Amino acid sequence: MEEKFDFLVIGSGLAGLSFALKVAEKGKVCIVTKSKITETNTSYAQGGIASVTYEPDSFEKHIQDTLICGDGLCNPQVVRMVVEEAPQRIRELIDWGVKFDTTEDGHFDLAREGGHSENRILHYKDITGAEIQRALSKKVSEHPNITVYENHFAIDIITQHHLGVLVKRYYNNIECYGAYVLDCDHGNIKTILAKVTLMATGGIGNVYHTTTNPPTATGDGIAMVYRAKGIVEDMEFVQFHPTALYNPGERPSFLITEALRGFGAILRNQNGEEFMHKYDPRGSLAPRDIVARAIDTEMKHSGHDYVFLDARHIDKKALFEHFPNIYQKCLSIGIDMSKDMIPVAPAAHYLCGGIKVDINGRSWINRLYAAGETACTGLHGANRLASNSLLEAAVFAHRAAIDAIAHFYEYQIPNGIPAWNDEGTSNPEEMILITQSMKETQQIMSSYVAIVRSNLRLQRAAQRINLIYEETEELYKRSKISRILCELRNLVEVSYLIIKSAQQRKQSIGLHYNVDYPPKNKTT
Ligand code: FAD
Ligand code: SIN
Repeated sequence: MEEKFDFLVIGSGLAGLSFALKVAEKGKVCIVTKSKITETNTSYAQGGIASVTYEPDSFEKHIQDTLICGDGLCNPQVVRMVVEEAPQRIRELIDWGVKFDTTEDGHFDLAREGGHSENRILHYKDITGAEIQRALSKKVSEHPNITVYENHFAIDIITQHHLGVLVKRYYNNIECYGAYVLDCDHGNIKTILAKVTLMATGGIGNVYHTTTNPPTATGDGIAMVYRAKGIVEDMEFVQFHPTALYNPGERPSFLITEALRGFGAILRNQNGEEFMHKYDPRGSLAPRDIVARAIDTEMKHSGHDYVFLDARHIDKKALFEHFPNIYQKCLSIGIDMSKDMIPVAPAAHYLCGGIKVDINGRSWINRLYAAGETACTGLHGANRLASNSLLEAAVFAHRAAIDAIAHFYEYQIPNGIPAWNDEGTSNPEEMILITQSMKETQQIMSSYVAIVRSNLRLQRAAQRINLIYEETEELYKRSKISRILCELRNLVEVSYLIIKSAQQRKQSIGLHYNVDYPPKNKTT
């Protein structure tokens, strides 16, 4: 079954929906999303979105904080652009119906998170992402030019390769004409053609055993683009959030926002001692890479699987008002955060790398843009500053939309694009082959390619993942397409890319910490 649109958007988080709302003013848009429209990393965001709002904050301060956090690997031009465009994107979100908390005098209630030198995080209680997702999903559902296909899984992007044409891998030489998409409710594969495609598939958290990301975050966009010979970069920079609630068996791990530390909560070890000042003068509010490594070290020393976050000294009413969702969640497992310390441990949270794009969100593949967590824009460098990712998604979706609107009318979709061919395939005999390989992949990545790495660990991970890669490719060739099989294939490819990038980086920098290359002037 073939369908044609002007714009295809893969993913329904902040990046996908904001791009769709803009380009829908000029053409027909199809959004495909593999689960419900609201099942996105965006929906889970707690702390908020960073933007300079009032003095004494300034663009220069936000730029400096971002550059320091990125450990020398940010693209300064991109950092300046994103920081300076932030207030416009915030105004637009508000115009679309997003609410941010204000104080009694009507000003925005700005929170602080790790690595920020000022209070600059706009938020809606501790459920900012859910509020953004609510407002944008509503807007999109009301737009006459937008068709949303839920439970539709993009398998691969369509390029000249599918027309049987061999194309060399030069910038812009390969062209994207849309994607093959599995309708998960009915089992058929659609050919969705478009003049322009946006990849907005979000993160990769499920590569790891413990993650704050929902099950949808399996790095599909990155794997699709890599298979289509696009450029993927900075994959070694995986951010572990220091404070996910330690609640064994719960997946995804529930996040305890960094804004709680910004509000005064303190990390303590098993003996009840504040330990962060041993590692960094900024204490519990040091950048995430430092805090996550410090917690990892403390856990290894004590032999326990968690440390504590102590908010007992904070006024109970204020805690409840600012963090109602976290308060309730903790209560539901028997922890009253005004009286008890909260057990926390690091969890895979965010990927700084991804599909390489330019300042307008263009990937190396012509007619294919990428925005949001799946893209690597140069903003984050070796480590992302808290609450800069929602901002990055909004800014790059906007720039990609402007660029796509300027060019889409020039593009033709070629005739003769074949339907998906699944001749000779059958349902996999044993589901356990897929689920077990997925668990093995997550175990390998969590054991050898997590917060602290070494050459030997990376080498072992590479050997193990190569084996799973070969088994998975074999299974893929002879099996009927299913979402879980494609996700396994993508997780394994993304794991391979993380390991390869980590092996190539012969230094410890930002989120990539390799004990064989001790960092200069660092205490952890
Ligand atoms: P997402 O919102 O993840 O959307 C991706 C979409 O792609 C989903 O709809 C998914 O179903 C779809 N998709 C994926 N693969 C396919 C496929 N093959 N076919 C079809 N659809 C597909 N950032 C901040 O700036 N501030 C915060 O406070 C903050 N808090 C966070 C808290 C948590 C618990 C988490 C997990 C993340 C947080 N982040 C935060 C990070 C931020 O939420 C994400 O980076 C951002 O929302 C990503 O938006 P996105 O649009 O790129 O992707
Ligand atoms: C948090 O609220 O701690 C998450 C913020 C982020 O990931 O940017």
